[in-house]
Amino acid sequence: TRCPSAEVLCDCTDHDIQIQGGNFTLTKKLEKGSLLIYRCNDGYYPYPALTRMCQPNGSWKPAPRRFSPQKCKLVECPDPNVMENGNVSPPEVQYFVGNETSYECYSGYTLRGSSKRICLPNGKWSGSTPICSRDSGSACPDPGVPPGASRAGNMFGIDDKVRYTCNGELFLVGSKERVCLENGQWTGTEPACYYKHTFDTPREVAESFGGAIKGTLTTTQSLNDTQEGRLIRISKSGTLNIYIGVDISESIEKEDFEKARDAIITLIKKIASFSVSPNYEIVFFSSEIYRVVNILDFFNAKVELNKVIEDLEKFKIESESTPNIYIFAIGSDIFDDDLQPLTVGTGGNHYFRMSKIVELKETFDLIIGESTLKRESC
Ligand SMILES: *[C@@H]1O[C@H](CO)[C@@H](O)[C@H](O)[C@H]1NC(C)=O
Ligand SMILES: *[C@@H]1O[C@H](CO)[C@@H](O)[C@H](O)[C@H]1NC(C)=O
Ligand SMILES: *[C@@H]1O[C@H](CO)[C@@H](O)[C@H](O)[C@H]1NC(C)=O
Ligand SMILES: *[C@@H]1O[C@H](CO)[C@@H](O)[C@H](O)[C@H]1NC(C)=O
Repeated sequence: TRCPSAEVLCDCTDHDIQIQGGNFTLTKKLEKGSLLIYRCNDGYYPYPALTRMCQPNGSWKPAPRRFSPQKCKLVECPDPNVMENGNVSPPEVQYFVGNETSYECYSGYTLRGSSKRICLPNGKWSGSTPICSRDSGSACPDPGVPPGASRAGNMFGIDDKVRYTCNGELFLVGSKERVCLENGQWTGTEPACYYKHTFDTPREVAESFGGAIKGTLTTTQSLNDTQEGRLIRISKSGTLNIYIGVDISESIEKEDFEKARDAIITLIKKIASFSVSPNYEIVFFSSEIYRVVNILDFFNAKVELNKVIEDLEKFKIESESTPNIYIFAIGSDIFDDDLQPLTVGTGGNHYFRMSKIVELKETFDLIIGESTLKRESC
């Protein structure tokens, strides 16, 4: 049931694409260009493929293999036995969702971080990296070795560097290299090793991105408590430019597009509750179409691509400080190698991976919730 020649377009077949213990959806039935997306229950992930694309000649990429049937596998967490100067129990080759571990330091060393951790359904360990260190009089504290990682560099004095890599099929999110500063702090953020099935939860993203955005709104502006307790003035250059780019390539479904749009509306409303009026440019793009939508006529207006480029160029010239670019990568199969290098800026993590698009709205809801506004007004 293969396509006879390259000129004739034919459909893909549904042979061998079923998944044990899970479901799949097709964006365009069995037609060419259709994306097959596998879904598993919480705590499981699709294996060996996360998605398959129907090629013009009627074959799936990657092709299903009868001897390696598609199934839902139990989520695994990265190896915690990389901790130095202490013991991890129980010592195992692999750790799965629900597995518990505890950490103890050799005598003379003290523990920072969590003494007990559980492997969570998103493929991460609960709590924070356990680190066993001894007071060596170094300028910076031992930065530790996160699960699944290897560290080069064992000197923690001023200007000393440590470099991280992730073992096996894991990839690194965060700072590959950290430098010990005079103030006793390491540059960048603690790296983490992710599997393709590791995701950030809305709460984690909200904490990290929310902290950054609130920092921006409160440090570049002066806070005056007299008017309803939360008047924020933009004092520096008088403007805050927020550019939002949404990739709506063929693979994204209409429903997902609507959820992305809702999430953006949520974020804009949350930011508006801070009494700041940033300039927005919202770009929805795919390989061919570029459409810019201004917030004022979010649903109707169309602006030329040239205008966006112009604005982006202007932004570069006018901006005195380095811009920050955050990437929210969402989907079953994320092209991390392409997306992660697009992040720009300092102060915390700029790359977030989420499995479902609905979680983006949840994230923005969590970022600037009512409780935060109340707390900031005190
Ligand atoms: C499969 O689909 C059914 C109905 O569409 C749903 O109830 C079920 O939870 C799905 N199972 C998985 C593993 O996604
Ligand atoms: C179908 O086309 C793809 C490239 O588009 C090629 O890699 C693959 O080998 C082709 N498969 C068959 C069965 O012809
Ligand atoms: C870890 O989890 C797996 C899967 O649930 C289970 O089979 C195994 O016994 C657990 N290991 C430990 C040490 O609890
Ligand atoms: C806050 O605003 C009031 C009136 O607008 C002004 O008198 C006061 O000095 C301001 N306080 C600060 C800290 O800027």
